[in-house]
Amino acid sequence: MKKKINPFILKGYISEELFCDRQREVEELYVNVQNGIDTTLISARRMGKTGLIFRFFDHLKELSDIKSIYVDIFSSRNLGEFIKLLAESILLGFPEKTPVGSRFLEFIKGFRPLIGYDPLTGQPQIQINYQSAQEKEYTLQGLFNFLEKQGEQIVVAIDEFQQISDYPENNMEAILRTNTQNLKNIRFIFCGSRKTMMINLFSNVKRPFFASTQFLSLENIDKVVYSLFIRNKFSQSGIVITDEALTMVLNWSLVHTFYTQSLCNILYYIADNLITIDTVKLACVELLKRNEPVFYQYRQLLTTAQWNFLIAIAKEGEVKQLTAQKFIARYEIGTPANARRISRSLIEKELLLEISDKKAISYRVYDVFLSRWLENEY
Ligand SMILES: Nc1ncnc2c1ncn2[C@@H]1O[C@H](COP(=O)(O)OP(=O)(O)OP(=O)(O)O)[C@@H](O)[C@H]1O
Ligand SMILES: [Mg+2]
Repeated sequence: MKKKINPFILKGYISEELFCDRQREVEELYVNVQNGIDTTLISARRMGKTGLIFRFFDHLKELSDIKSIYVDIFSSRNLGEFIKLLAESILLGFPEKTPVGSRFLEFIKGFRPLIGYDPLTGQPQIQINYQSAQEKEYTLQGLFNFLEKQGEQIVVAIDEFQQISDYPENNMEAILRTNTQNLKNIRFIFCGSRKTMMINLFSNVKRPFFASTQFLSLENIDKVVYSLFIRNKFSQSGIVITDEALTMVLNWSLVHTFYTQSLCNILYYIADNLITIDTVKLACVELLKRNEPVFYQYRQLLTTAQWNFLIAIAKEGEVKQLTAQKFIARYEIGTPANARRISRSLIEKELLLEISDKKAISYRVYDVFLSRWLENEY
């Protein structure tokens, strides 16, 4: 059978058909919006937050008249850039030709911006010059009030929200909270992967956003559900995957969405019509080989002690007590203080992942491929 387009996507969201599960989460987001509740969406990197937001937007489109706006603020470094990205996203959500879009263009012209379109992507670009910090706040307030007045229900998802803690404006949280708390027609999804930072932003009594949202934590997709999805996608292209091979795919990638998708993507590409354990092994080797340049780069950025620490964790798979005598002695880490210092810096660099559930905290190498590579290489 001639193969179709690879059904295992590695970027963003395409359609419900290529998206596995997350029904409970979509429903929860929907219920929150209907009840006027804002949501804080958190998970480890590459678990599927951004994908979920777009899946949810699709769901909104199918079921309601509620409009949606997606703002990714990863690249922003201050309030001015935040406003720029928000304005551009509004224009993307409400194109020029729609009534809201044309009203928005008129409105934004009041700030005397430079408006253009990226020649490659065609995406709107808005440049505003400010005289003062106060003018920025005024513009931000203007944007939210504009949306509020359109007589439409709108969901605004702000991705990589933790970024605001790096802004030089030290009252950024207060500014945002002040300008968003009284909006009746706008619901927010604040999304981020720096768990501690996000939890601190939204659940610290002393901070402006305290208790203002409901937390939604995105975990691994259920193994059984993911298995069915994977088997289905292969079989739609006439490819059979054995039970053992499927189990190996999920175990090797730790059911961490991006890594599972990547492995399936490459399997789809190399398989004829049967995937066995041997095919999976081949795919794993190929994947690690492709990623080697990234691993070498990690090594260059780390001290020998940090690198050795990562190897130790990779060898163990998952570690509960980073300062435990047995662990420290086996890998010659030195003292518990050493282990604490190194692990703190690796967590900060997002190379070590802290997994906390109801029962305990444990640690693993953040990047699953790096973990597998270290495990094999050393
Ligand atoms: N439910 C799903 N079914 C299939 N693929 C998915 C699903 N969710 C996410 N993906 C894929 O997994 C990868 C990671 O997803 P995504 O980028 O949404 O994660 P993220 O949590 O936003 O990551 P980051 O924190 O790095 O921004 C992407 O390739 C995406 O296409
Ligand atoms: Mg994302």
